[in-house]
Amino acid sequence: MASHCVGESDGLSFYLARQEDYNDAMGISHDIYGGMDYLPHRFLSWMTEPGRVVIIARRAGKLVALESGLVVDGGETVIVEGLRVCPNERGRGLARIIQTFTDGYIKQLYPGVKTKRLTRGDDPGPEKLRKFNVLARRAVLSLWGNSAGFESFVSGLKKTLYESSSISSCPVVSKLNSEAMKAVLLDPDVCSRLLLPGNLLIQDWQPLKLMESNLQVLERRDLSWFIDGSGEKPWFVSFHTPLYPIPFHGGSLRFNIDLYGTDFTLAKMALTAHLDGVRSEMQGMVVVQIYMHPSIWGELKQFCEGYEVVKQLRDYWEQLLLEQDF
Ligand SMILES: CC(C)(COP(=O)(O)OP(=O)(O)OC[C@H]1O[C@@H](n2cnc3c(N)ncnc32)[C@H](O)[C@@H]1OP(=O)(O)O)[C@@H](O)C(=O)NCCC(=O)NCCS
Repeated sequence: MASHCVGESDGLSFYLARQEDYNDAMGISHDIYGGMDYLPHRFLSWMTEPGRVVIIARRAGKLVALESGLVVDGGETVIVEGLRVCPNERGRGLARIIQTFTDGYIKQLYPGVKTKRLTRGDDPGPEKLRKFNVLARRAVLSLWGNSAGFESFVSGLKKTLYESSSISSCPVVSKLNSEAMKAVLLDPDVCSRLLLPGNLLIQDWQPLKLMESNLQVLERRDLSWFIDGSGEKPWFVSFHTPLYPIPFHGGSLRFNIDLYGTDFTLAKMALTAHLDGVRSEMQGMVVVQIYMHPSIWGELKQFCEGYEVVKQLRDYWEQLLLEQDF
């Protein structure tokens, strides 16, 4: 076994991924998620992220599969993500082999992990879902356009917002320090008030329990928040992850917004605030993915309709939140 090899089975050698594996990992990642792949942007930061394990499998030296897990919830849960298999090796059980190996490796390293959690954007049907506890389904609205288009789109949204409500200035997003985050997210009734999916907060596909140790994970993500300030406690909370590059359409930016709460007006205010907050950072083609409670999808879709410059990229689709004993 080579020195950094962490195991062998089924003709494969497993390694902890290192920075120098970047090109090989990208070599098996063409066209993943229709160009929306986050891994080209995240791979290097994953190498140093606390609680993160990234495993690659090589066959005769060639990288053929990758899987990753992030240990959260104070060491009780692993979020798995990044799974991919080299195109010419798909359909032969390789995904299952690397998942089994990675699970075993994480169990050794973090014996306190009891639960495995994941999100996925495709629905494999009831048969495949039987092995999971399906905690929730979130609705996703996908928009796309170029940066100039978003400029006039946001102006249009603001105008509609002012005309349809008593708001006279554009709502804004801000960074939250850890104290502010604690006050909003560690409030005992936050899960029911914001109707959190499975009592979790999903940040750009990573589902986290609301507990102090996970706030450090959120702090690392450089999020910008919209917090409803109309009452003593917020009935709507949302955040966006900074724009990041994706391969889509020869190179685009991806902008993810996670919305929590079901009030239509607050949802429209939040969406406008998030888009307005990044207008100056938008360049070239931009894909915006907005994740929300299914009950507000129709209203938000309507709010965004009627613009030639920014269009819906795909029809209604869902983000599935799944859990399994580990
Ligand atoms: C999805 C993919 C990894 C499957 O690889 P594969 O070697 O052909 O898969 P296998 O032959 O082992 O069989 C399917 C297994 O893949 C896993 N799998 C497939 N899609 C998955 C998904 N979206 N999320 C998690 N696991 C998935 C399951 O463990 C499944 O096992 P099951 O049949 O017991 O449910 C592969 O097609 C691929 O790389 N696709 C592009 C990347 C991608 O879509 N990844 C999704 C993960 S988020």
